[in-house]
Amino acid sequence: MLFSFALAMFPHPASVLVLGLGLCVSGVKDRCSCTKSGLECFFDSTCPGLGCGAEGQPHCRYCGDPKGVYGACPKLGVHAKQAKPQADSELTGSLASAAAVANTAEPKTVPKANAGLSSSMLKKAFDIDVFRCMAAAGVDAHPMEDDDIASLDGAIKYVHTEILTEHLQNPIRDTRKYNIDVVTRHRMKVLNPDTILGTPHAVQGEFGQFITYDFGKATNPDQMPIIQEQGDFVGIQPCTDLQCDPRYIACKPYAWLSLGNWCPNLSWDKKGTKKKPNPHCLKTVHGNFTKGGLCEHGFNGNGFLPGSSPTGDPGCIYTYGAATFVRLDDVVGITSEYCGKSHCKDWLDFRFNCSNRERYARKFLPDGQIEKVSYCVEFDMHPACEASCEAPSCKGLLQSGAPAYLGLPFWYGRCDPRANERRVEIVAHALGIPGALHSHVLVDTDVLQRACPPSIQSCNQEGVYNESESSRCSHTGGKLRVGHVCHQLP
Ligand SMILES: *[C@@H]1O[C@H](CO)[C@@H](O)[C@H](O)[C@H]1NC(C)=O
Ligand SMILES: *[C@@H]1O[C@H](CO)[C@@H](O)[C@H](O)[C@H]1NC(C)=O
Ligand SMILES: *[C@@H]1O[C@H](CO)[C@@H](O)[C@H](O)[C@H]1NC(C)=O
Ligand SMILES: *[C@@H]1O[C@H](CO)[C@@H](O)[C@H](O)[C@H]1NC(C)=O
Repeated sequence: MLFSFALAMFPHPASVLVLGLGLCVSGVKDRCSCTKSGLECFFDSTCPGLGCGAEGQPHCRYCGDPKGVYGACPKLGVHAKQAKPQADSELTGSLASAAAVANTAEPKTVPKANAGLSSSMLKKAFDIDVFRCMAAAGVDAHPMEDDDIASLDGAIKYVHTEILTEHLQNPIRDTRKYNIDVVTRHRMKVLNPDTILGTPHAVQGEFGQFITYDFGKATNPDQMPIIQEQGDFVGIQPCTDLQCDPRYIACKPYAWLSLGNWCPNLSWDKKGTKKKPNPHCLKTVHGNFTKGGLCEHGFNGNGFLPGSSPTGDPGCIYTYGAATFVRLDDVVGITSEYCGKSHCKDWLDFRFNCSNRERYARKFLPDGQIEKVSYCVEFDMHPACEASCEAPSCKGLLQSGAPAYLGLPFWYGRCDPRANERRVEIVAHALGIPGALHSHVLVDTDVLQRACPPSIQSCNQEGVYNESESSRCSHTGGKLRVGHVCHQLP
């Protein structure tokens, strides 16, 4: 029974690559037709891969007329660059789990942090880095609009709580859930509209309300009137009170951002084009269709930095550059594990072929027993802690020293705030953010030298940590700067 998942039960992954090939004939540009989106796309022989997959066609990539979001067709081969993780002995440093630190602060309503910002300060676009965990094939394959993204902590937290837990997943899957295999980083310039800046609608100084998007559609109908009044904006949902998810203990605030508001009441496939919107698209209180926040020419596919600045007018709230990314398999240690005589190639190779089966071919049963399985496991978490680190049974388990985590050590310690911080710092380092491993700073010095959000300038400290175990979550209070966002701590 324990070994009942035969390898033969894994479906073969290669079939995915064949899909849609017939639509894209080598060298014949218009055989890559993107009729649904109305965008131009072209055949790219380097596909499938990063940025490929326009309208689900693995060998097609979006470009456009020079007036469009994508600009002219990029030169072949000039696509997202992979950040080079530097060798650093600290990467092997301890991530071992420690006893969870109780977080006793009462949940509070989210404070606003825009007091004292003069309107002239607010009228300048600021730079911000945004992050996402996603499938490599989807990177920069679609404009980032009517969608949610995150701070780096938020992105890693999402994978840790929603994607990995082995005993909650289909055992015969052949990729991570949703094919997630990279962490992307985009540099963005943001200037929210007058309907938000300097008004009581502003959240954290310069953001609008967070809009939850699913396939391009805002999922909460109560938010439609807000979009009708405030138009296009970048919204934020900060986890400032540190009480956002009992499955993930954080001592540092994190945040999600929402982008866009172009035809937010319809999913991507139904919106039509910006020139010819579906007549059912949402209209503003002025009777016009919302335009969406991404400026015309707003995506610079040829470099990391955005090519232009947003004006803050309807239809032009943000711009951004091409992604850099790291592969999760590299960061989490899959490609450092052995599969036979050589290192594992990727998630699936590790799944089938990992050498250290005594350690990795194990998962938790619902009653907390450890079961040996016939495949290697990236991460699993004891059921007593999976639903809540705060549950007495979880605290008891952690105190007892019994195994609470299985799989790669990188993912150990989801109930341990220091381990969670350390993970984020390791990914930040891999993404090339200087100082991430040494000073807890997750924001690029390059951004600090550019215009940063005005609210940050009145924020009195960059995330400060008291290394004493007993006081992990005891900040000094006041305003705490985390990355590009100023959080007023409760
Ligand atoms: C979208 O909004 C328009 C205009 O308010 C409305 O007529 C239409 O029914 C909405 N569609 C959906 C799917 O909510
Ligand atoms: C609405 O659209 C009309 C026609 O394109 C334009 O003249 C007007 O300025 C728009 N109004 C707003 C508030 O955007
Ligand atoms: C597992 O290892 C075998 C032998 O080296 C190899 O042929 C196979 O492709 C590997 N499986 C995966 C999924 O990489
Ligand atoms: C860190 O926490 C310990 C224990 O609460 C306290 O004694 C110490 O003063 C704190 N250190 C700093 C730098 O805040």
